[in-house]
Amino acid sequence: MMPLVEMRQIVKTFGPVMAVRGADFSVNHGEVVGLVGDNGAGKSTLMKVLTGVHQPDGGELWFAGRRVHFGSSVDSRRAGIEMVYQDLGLAENLNPIANIFLGREMTHSFAGLRLLSEAEMDQAGRRHLENLQIRLPSLALPVERLSGGQRQSVAIARATAFQARLVIMDEPAASLAVAEAAKVLLLIKRLREQGISAVLISHRLQDVLDVSDRIVVLNRGLKVGDLPREEATMERLVGLIVGKAS
Ligand SMILES: Nc1ncnc2c1ncn2[C@@H]1O[C@H](COP(=O)(O)OP(=O)(O)OP(=O)(O)O)[C@@H](O)[C@H]1O
Ligand SMILES: [Mg+2]
Repeated sequence: MMPLVEMRQIVKTFGPVMAVRGADFSVNHGEVVGLVGDNGAGKSTLMKVLTGVHQPDGGELWFAGRRVHFGSSVDSRRAGIEMVYQDLGLAENLNPIANIFLGREMTHSFAGLRLLSEAEMDQAGRRHLENLQIRLPSLALPVERLSGGQRQSVAIARATAFQARLVIMDEPAASLAVAEAAKVLLLIKRLREQGISAVLISHRLQDVLDVSDRIVVLNRGLKVGDLPREEATMERLVGLIVGKAS
């Protein structure tokens, strides 16, 4: 079977900066891939090429067995790819359920009007949170009142509520306390159990080692390592991350 994601020889330049210099990257079905590298190595850029935020200057993108050209994140979302950014992109003044359905609200028509199906969204939203075993102190509070880890959980719930096949997380636990970060890692494992693939970008190598099936290392826009979890050690990863790319 072809991998879920296959990126071949991707090149992305920004003026004089060659952010990605011919990188291959794949994700298998139900696989968690850790993506690591120094600041500026090209991790976020590579994932933005995958989600259609950036158009590549070279290379090919395959998803679920087909050659694809995503013109924007709208296209990649339609295909089942969701990205959770560090700033999470939540609507701070809305409650968790409203955030899950933000921009994809359930509606019904009544007397010729399109109305929000509040009760259905509430029910489906609760069920989804329960499936992921996400527990929040209240579903009535705006998300700005939640902790960092709870907000992260809401962002992941939002990303996975609509038939996602791949969830990309760019530094999801960067500002979290240890216990909260651990919950996010558990959540990634739970997604994998449900057959959803994930890419985890993180500078916290222990987190990456804890949750990944495979770890890809970028160094100045090049892939310098692609290690099954069994072959990855902290030392080896650090060596590849700081090593001089040719
Ligand atoms: N929109 C942009 N315009 C110009 N240059 C950019 C843009 N986005 C990224 N770059 C440059 O491309 C290179 C790779 O950046 P990228 O954000 O992909 O790195 P990264 O691996 O995600 O780093 P970090 O760990 O710091 O987030 C950097 O030199 C960066 O300055
Ligand atoms: Mg980045």
